[in-house]
Amino acid sequence: MNFSTVNKKTDRGILLPAIAFIILSFVQCTPKHKVVSSFKASTIAGHPDKGLKDYYKNYFPIGVAVSMASLHGPDSALIVKEFNSITPENDMKMGPIHPSENIYNWENADKIVDFAVSHHIKIRGHNLCWHNQEAAWMFKGPNGGAVTKELLLQRLKDHIFAVAGRYRGKIYAWDVVNEAVDDSDDTTQIYRKSNWYNICNGPDFIAAAFRYAHEADPQAKLYYNDYNSEHPVKREKIYKLLKKLIEEHVPIDGVGMQAHWKLNDPSPDELRKALDEVTSLGLKVQFTELDITIRVPQPTPAPGTTPQAATMPPATDAGYTPELEARQIAQYKMAFDIFRQYKKFITGVTFWNVSDRYSWLDGRGGGLMGGAAAGLNTPRVIKKAYPLLFDENRQRKNAYWSVVNF
Ligand code: XIL
Repeated sequence: MNFSTVNKKTDRGILLPAIAFIILSFVQCTPKHKVVSSFKASTIAGHPDKGLKDYYKNYFPIGVAVSMASLHGPDSALIVKEFNSITPENDMKMGPIHPSENIYNWENADKIVDFAVSHHIKIRGHNLCWHNQEAAWMFKGPNGGAVTKELLLQRLKDHIFAVAGRYRGKIYAWDVVNEAVDDSDDTTQIYRKSNWYNICNGPDFIAAAFRYAHEADPQAKLYYNDYNSEHPVKREKIYKLLKKLIEEHVPIDGVGMQAHWKLNDPSPDELRKALDEVTSLGLKVQFTELDITIRVPQPTPAPGTTPQAATMPPATDAGYTPELEARQIAQYKMAFDIFRQYKKFITGVTFWNVSDRYSWLDGRGGGLMGGAAAGLNTPRVIKKAYPLLFDENRQRKNAYWSVVNF
């Protein structure tokens, strides 16, 4: 047998598909607008069959928030390819799932759970106790009067037993309490003055919710979830809350940092500090709602004026400009570089929505005032946030390549 012929054939057998693959990868990944970063070259190295979850298989699960619309068609194909964890965006929140005392809407939540189970995708439950999208009936007493603390906690317990109990063994982690910490700069004001706090006359409901959740599903990992957890003042308040829970032997496994971020927020230093502080308590961390809006906060209008008078033409929306794209790429790269450095402590990174086709921030003018903190009364002049790794056509953005090439 002529070995040199065999080798040549083998070489060509490998070489031709390899060249075809490189060309195909390049065609698939070439973005429609001008590339502004060095990541164009690295797109060639991307493997078309690999998803985010594969690039991060030695690090942590990569998740995404889903709605019913995500379970069919192109979104569902993208989810199955790229992600190995999902969080229901709205369908397990107290109001939607438990709108009155004896009514539970299981249908959507069940469909999401079935979808995940059938595709071997992990599920994070979101959430068991929050001041928004709440079940308003819980705060009313039986005769239309005020509800007592005892009854409210009993209702919370029943709710948590019903929901966490139903999905026991299927949901691996729960956001047990969401956003219970105050946003002001007043360092003495640790807790948000929510209905929960006011009716319970203090923060007891937080520890109670964790204990109920642990009882309802002893295997589930339990998280406290909040936003702006890297901002120094709020970070310290969250730290105090967590420390107290740990001292009281409350069953808590970790902290969800929502990560509704901006182009310059957080700084790498703030992000590291937040991680160091939480992990020093022995807690794990998940980034639970990651998105990076390209919008920047608008100047506060002068007293007595509106930011955009009705008679003025609407401000021009320059959209996803090359400059904003470059800044977003840099912020995403910074974040994932740090995530990988802290892989020992990080047990998941979840994006809030699938692609720039739809982001919850779009409905908030792109999150002008900064992600979750943007109230519904925030003036909305500009619409889209472009905060994710997939564009409006569900194609990988250059920011995608900045987080998978490492
Ligand atoms: C948002 C959803 O994305 C929206 O569809 C809904 O209208 C409002 O809630 N912090 C959270 C999430 O913990 O539950 C919020 O989700 C975003 C901010």
